[in-house]
Amino acid sequence: MEDKKKDGRYQRIYIQLSGLVLKSNNTQARMATIIAVLHHKMDFFFWTGFYLADNGKMTVSMYQGPVACQILEKDKGVCWAAYNQQRTIVVEDVHEFPGHIACDSRSNSEIVVPLKNKIGEIIGVLDIDSKDKASFSEVDARWLEKILELIYI
Ligand code: SME
Repeated sequence: MEDKKKDGRYQRIYIQLSGLVLKSNNTQARMATIIAVLHHKMDFFFWTGFYLADNGKMTVSMYQGPVACQILEKDKGVCWAAYNQQRTIVVEDVHEFPGHIACDSRSNSEIVVPLKNKIGEIIGVLDIDSKDKASFSEVDARWLEKILELIYI
């Protein structure tokens, strides 16, 4: 999807999500709602979900899409890289990312955004996969970071 079209779609999603998340201050309800809206409004999102650091293990949390790995091998792959480097990582071709963990062989590109709690600590990541190469850009990075801020408002 072109960046301009994507930007418009994120704007509408953001308005919708801002209304929805304010109905509950339960963090899990907000996370689940964000995943459902993103996954169903962005047709190129093939897998959309959270991995959360749980006693040193990057463990899958709520998600939409095909069954995923429960636990990601420590310090390997894109999710751990984004978590350890504390920054959003956009991968145009997952097959070229050293150590990429393929939970589903149909994924070809990916974006991983760190999830921060109320006091700014990184507690996990939002991970989104696409079946196409180079599906994600700076537009996704900027909007997804902004959307994640809704969880702890
Ligand atoms: N590809 C991720 C693993 C999670 S799945 O994509 C759902 C990674 O390399 O960390």
